[in-house]
Amino acid sequence: MSQVVILVGAQWGDEGKGKWVDCLSEQSDLVCRFQGGDNAGHTIYLNGKKLVLHQLPSAVFHPHTKLLVGANVVVNPLKLLDEIRGISSYADVGPERLWLSQRAHVISPWHIHCDEQREARAKKPIGTTKRGIGPSYEEKMARSGLTLSQYVDDGQRALWFERRSAESSDFLLHTQNHKEAWALFVSAAAELRPFVQPAENQLRKEIASGKRVLLEGAQGTLLDICHGTYPYVTSSSTIAGGALASLGLGPKSVSQVLGVAKAYTTRVGEGPFPSELKDDVGKRIAEKGQERGATTGRPRRCGWFDAVAMRYAVAVNGFDAIYVNKMDILTGFDQIQIVTAYQHPSLGVLDEFPADAEILAACKPVLKSFSGWQKELPKSGSLADCPREAKIYVEAMSELAGVRILAIGTGPERDDFVQVT
Ligand code: IMP
Repeated sequence: MSQVVILVGAQWGDEGKGKWVDCLSEQSDLVCRFQGGDNAGHTIYLNGKKLVLHQLPSAVFHPHTKLLVGANVVVNPLKLLDEIRGISSYADVGPERLWLSQRAHVISPWHIHCDEQREARAKKPIGTTKRGIGPSYEEKMARSGLTLSQYVDDGQRALWFERRSAESSDFLLHTQNHKEAWALFVSAAAELRPFVQPAENQLRKEIASGKRVLLEGAQGTLLDICHGTYPYVTSSSTIAGGALASLGLGPKSVSQVLGVAKAYTTRVGEGPFPSELKDDVGKRIAEKGQERGATTGRPRRCGWFDAVAMRYAVAVNGFDAIYVNKMDILTGFDQIQIVTAYQHPSLGVLDEFPADAEILAACKPVLKSFSGWQKELPKSGSLADCPREAKIYVEAMSELAGVRILAIGTGPERDDFVQVT
């Protein structure tokens, strides 16, 4: 029986996955990132110090854990090397420990330029992180991208430059006008070379030998390129199924699928968000929860816990259970609400998450109210130790979303949580 656990975000990202990856990593031999790039920002608090990871798996601070970056990740080489250096006083990251897939694609200065330009010119911008994520995936799909394997091979990289320059005069112009950025990009290849390995083959061998593996998602279910709120999504598959496609694993290799949500909802960037609170309550949640993007520093939009979206996330990912973070942020509110359905002006009451972003944008939330609690939540123990109102709220989230809740986060530190089931 294999021991492969998938853990993904159940909302629009920023659910606090890093905290649970960090906890689960204690029992994992290998932790894999499987999509996205440095658009992700995983915040981890270590002995009161705030550390933010963008491309490395969040298990990096557990020295016994091997780290893998899978085929469907897009890697920014310079940023990755900076990240490794930036945490060197907390973690040793060498090629025996960090395996980068030969099949992963590279984010080049051209991709970042395209992302910035497109967002600046768009009538309806997506609100991307401007890290070049979309353009890198586009080139991959157009079969003109650069894999890590090609990037670290001087001959293949030179051929790619030639081909790309012949294909696109804009690309050629960019390389001529930004010589320094391109020189830095090329110079990072030698340093990254030892890390680039047949990572998926190595992973399959580890699984066959009984090693415990955690597959760690970035962003969240509702930002999935296929099943999210398109076009206001990221460019990769963020859901549990995406983990298997990226890492070259069969569906039968998975033993457990877990989700992470917040006790309320947040979203960065543009796009429909039915439970959004544009009033003082939303502001209060944002301030108390310090809701700013870990990558871009942009303020996050805040709203109530959305049980319609959560039921959808449960269905799309097949969650066995979820963790719920940041319950402590809701302490002190008189009333707390949960979205139980959507009211659409012409389609009536909707129980299911609509596929069309325009339909979703026209929906108003149908809300159920709960009494708040004033006493601080405990940092450890079980749900039974929490105020009665908090207990009722957690049970309602679980029942309305149709999923078991394992634990609720009650503070930022790794150990700040109470067990639920
Ligand atoms: P991109 O991934 O930079 O192309 O941005 C596409 C959308 O995904 C935008 O709405 C971003 O704000 C959102 N996004 C990307 N990464 C994250 C993340 O780590 N957390 C939350 N939202 C994200």
